[in-house]
Amino acid sequence: MARLQERAFRPGLAYRLSTLIMLRSLPWVRFFVARRGGAISGCVIGDWHEGNSRIVNIAVDPVFRRQGVATALLAAIEFSLPEGDMILMVEADNPAAQALYDRCGYVQTGPARDYYGIGRDGIWMRKPRPGGVPKVRV
Ligand SMILES: CC(C)(COP(=O)(O)OP(=O)(O)OC[C@H]1O[C@@H](n2cnc3c(N)ncnc32)[C@H](O)[C@@H]1OP(=O)(O)O)[C@@H](O)C(=O)NCCC(=O)NCCS
Repeated sequence: MARLQERAFRPGLAYRLSTLIMLRSLPWVRFFVARRGGAISGCVIGDWHEGNSRIVNIAVDPVFRRQGVATALLAAIEFSLPEGDMILMVEADNPAAQALYDRCGYVQTGPARDYYGIGRDGIWMRKPRPGGVPKVRV
């Protein structure tokens, strides 16, 4: 998964092995890995955070993109997390991820200035789902 992170993200955004190991040890964090022919084609990390189910990280190997891998990973992790709305943060300068989330039912709810560094804004997105009582509105 650490190698996939390096292949999928620009330097600085990829999760390192130590971060992945730490996240994997937390009971409220969920991991899913997609495989194709023995290779890891993608991964998604989600958690339960302040009353919301949240997508923390999703990455698909460049070789396997536009084949529905991320769509399948999103569906799997959404199913595994507590009911109620899903939330996530996406970089404003990431049209591919925004298109994916839009296609999967997420709507933009507001900006997060400089979230990814100076001049690199984020956008909060939310997917309405039945059930749950969100404590944090974004
Ligand atoms: C964003 C990412 C996870 C998408 O993975 P993927 O497996 O290629 O996505 P899917 O095949 O499930 O795409 C589903 C839909 O999302 C949209 N989409 C995905 N990638 C797109 C792109 N590059 N340009 C435009 N639309 C795109 C399309 O509507 C696509 O459906 P289509 O292929 O039938 O047109 C992948 O590009 C990636 O790993 N990017 C780098 C890491 C990253 O940015 N993660 C998100 C951080 S918030």
